[in-house]
Amino acid sequence: MSRQTRRSFLQGAGTAGAIATLPLSLVEVAFAKPGQNFTFAYISDSHIQHVEGSKFVRNWDRGLIRAVAEANLLQPRPDFVMYGGDLAQLGTKAELDHGADMLGSLRGKVHHVMGEHDYYLDLGEYWSKLFGPQWYSFDHKGVHFVVLNSILTYDEWTYERWPSAEQRMLEMAGLDNPNGSPFMVGDRQRAWLAKDLAKVAKSTPVVVFSHSPLQKIYKGWNFWTEDAEQVQQLLAPFDKVTVFYGHVHQIQYNQIGNISFTSAMATAWPWPYPETYAQAESHLPKLTVHMNRADPFFERDATGWQFIDVHTGRAATHYNLYNNKVRTVAFDAASGRPEDTAYQAPGARIAPQSHF
Ligand SMILES: [Fe+2]
Ligand SMILES: [Fe+2]
Repeated sequence: MSRQTRRSFLQGAGTAGAIATLPLSLVEVAFAKPGQNFTFAYISDSHIQHVEGSKFVRNWDRGLIRAVAEANLLQPRPDFVMYGGDLAQLGTKAELDHGADMLGSLRGKVHHVMGEHDYYLDLGEYWSKLFGPQWYSFDHKGVHFVVLNSILTYDEWTYERWPSAEQRMLEMAGLDNPNGSPFMVGDRQRAWLAKDLAKVAKSTPVVVFSHSPLQKIYKGWNFWTEDAEQVQQLLAPFDKVTVFYGHVHQIQYNQIGNISFTSAMATAWPWPYPETYAQAESHLPKLTVHMNRADPFFERDATGWQFIDVHTGRAATHYNLYNNKVRTVAFDAASGRPEDTAYQAPGARIAPQSHF
């Protein structure tokens, strides 16, 4: 995509963002030769929820239907669509079937990431039947893509602690739940990842998809992956690494060493930015950047549109949010971290919020 074309696209996205909430991300992977560039779209966290019979929670249905419709209208056509997990709310066949039906209208190839709401009822059995393997990699036009299942946890919690699958699902679905358990990628998958990455040149751009953040943000809400550092270590030798994740239903970005982290917004609902981020000192990560709080009082905050450009290996994200200014978070070489210049730079008109 040429610079001119990219600008035109952003203008189009900005216009659309001004009139509607677009629960969708489009990611561009750009190379030195524009002919090699490509884009992919990203949709996440729809939480399709069964009520009874043929009834599902309407709002969550509508969010996904709109994302699918927008994805089908994207120009240039994305090479594929990534679905970021939490398609279902309680992992039932009815919810996964209904979600899969809606996603079935997408044009082109769809890849899937496992979310905890998809997993903890039957431990991914039906999801895998519908969507395939829970972790894998593929190469596309010079980029190595890795999909991880990052929402696994300890065997005892998974297999022995709960009298029923339904209770296990409910315990993992709650926030601030002392009965929950931290997410992890796990030994088996990390061994697979090490082997997978061994055959990839260090100069090849690597893009990783997980559901939970591969960093430790807030344990009480499982915005957390227990073995995040070990996964980061496996990614450390590569020049350009970008991690995209869902799960948090809010805008987050971070830079840890060579790895850029960007969250995908949800099609269902936004999570607030809790005061407890500042209260639970022992669980706070050393975030290299603050999180963008677009509008914590707006109920559709963090359910907007993102255009993500990863051509430098450091994601630059353009947020087009309903009832908000278009914002850009881009890697700043001088500070060595991503920044939202209009929001966070010294002298910015909008003061950064104090409680991250
Ligand atoms: Fe979610
Ligand atoms: Fe989730």
